Amino acid sequence: MIPRYFEYYNSVRVVAGKHALGRLPEELLRLGVSRPILITDKGVVNAGLIDIVKEHIEGSGVTIGATYDDTPVDSSIHAVNAVADIYRETGCDSIIAVGGGSVIDTAKGVNIVLSENTDDLMKFRGNNRVRAVMKPFAVIPTTGGTGSEVTTAAVISNPDENIKMQFTTPLMLPDFTILDPAMTRTMPPGITAATGMDALTHAIESYMSIQRNPVSDEFAFTAIRLIMENLPVAVSDGANEDARLAIANAAMIAGVAFSNAMVGVVHAVAHAVGGVCHVPHGIANAIILPHGMEFNLPKVRDAVAGMLLPLAGPDVYASTPKKRRAEKAIETVREFAKELNRLSGLPLCLEDAGVRREQLDRVARVAINDGASHFNPIEIEYKDAIGILVRAYGA
Ligand SMILES: NC(=O)c1ccc[n+]([C@@H]2O[C@H](COP(=O)([O-])OP(=O)(O)OC[C@H]3O[C@@H](n4cnc5c(N)ncnc54)[C@H](O)[C@@H]3O)[C@@H](O)[C@H]2O)c1
Ligand SMILES: [Fe+2]
Repeated sequence: MIPRYFEYYNSVRVVAGKHALGRLPEELLRLGVSRPILITDKGVVNAGLIDIVKEHIEGSGVTIGATYDDTPVDSSIHAVNAVADIYRETGCDSIIAVGGGSVIDTAKGVNIVLSENTDDLMKFRGNNRVRAVMKPFAVIPTTGGTGSEVTTAAVISNPDENIKMQFTTPLMLPDFTILDPAMTRTMPPGITAATGMDALTHAIESYMSIQRNPVSDEFAFTAIRLIMENLPVAVSDGANEDARLAIANAAMIAGVAFSNAMVGVVHAVAHAVGGVCHVPHGIANAIILPHGMEFNLPKVRDAVAGMLLPLAGPDVYASTPKKRRAEKAIETVREFAKELNRLSGLPLCLEDAGVRREQLDRVARVAINDGASHFNPIEIEYKDAIGILVRAYGA
């Protein structure tokens, strides 16, 4: 199905492969910068990854102007302001984010604050409110993952209100990203599984979105297939570089898909679960995903049926009767999460993720106001969100 009208855009230069990190100095010099700030978090530092990045920069003519490693999980507007102050005080000229989505989105927020010369990030909340030309910006993802290295979005929490705020603008896209399996091999199995399920959710939601298009569909299909084939290996054998590289690529490809097609009900509910109950983003998505697919089924049965091919492979697709393919696709997603649960302890229901039943009402109210809900094929009302949450509560 070709839509009557669509737009596709992605400007990020992708440098991907084993030892791709060796290209970092050259890529920075190409941007004409010499004093980047490194933004990261404690987990990434403790995994030794910042040392590796610094080793690649030493002697190249580029000097690290400052390193900020206090990024909280899910970022925060306070961290964004703190980093922007450090950048100004230390005379930096560019930004390198080394980390997962929390770090990358912090860096995107910092770039807005610096480029717009403001101290009030909140003014730029929502879609396309940014106008300024951004500072040179590079991203080295360490999870696999959010795809934030190629997305026009940043999700930053406002801890004072317990909500996750979204900022979208193509101006925020990094200049380049480096995908190197050396940066993800230290990820523990639980984080590998959860962030991989985030990437799978991006691909599946892109394919169900009202804004899907032929380009995003192709990206989504490839990402789903790569994740299904490689994520269990990356979880159970973290040192497997082929699996790690495949997942890094899949997460990026899924990021391109959803940055154009957008996500829907699963992310709307997962953002709310994250904001209100502080469940990690990938875990919230993994739990809500099959319920969101079921919710959307009346409107996108053919699309869900079509996804059985990359989810389960050609043999299962061919041997499943046409009218059963959509249900089989959802069943395959459920079985996949169970496999990851056996390999890494990935929680399968909200109760196991630490959510309290009395929080569901508040989560549902936050979910229906989440920006992701605008692109879902079915409008989400309170009764729908609470229905999904109740079904996802117990195993
Ligand atoms: N901007 C977007 O397009 C987009 C898309 C999806 C999600 N998000 C946001 O991204 C955030 C989640 O990001 P995430 O899932 O990548 O996790 P994360 O960045 O929160 O990291 C999770 C934990 O893993 C640790 N870690 C990261 N890489 C590691 C490595 N290689 N080795 C060891 N430890 C490592 C971190 O220190 C952290 O403790 C959420 O806030 C979510 O809303 C943004
Ligand atoms: Fe996500």
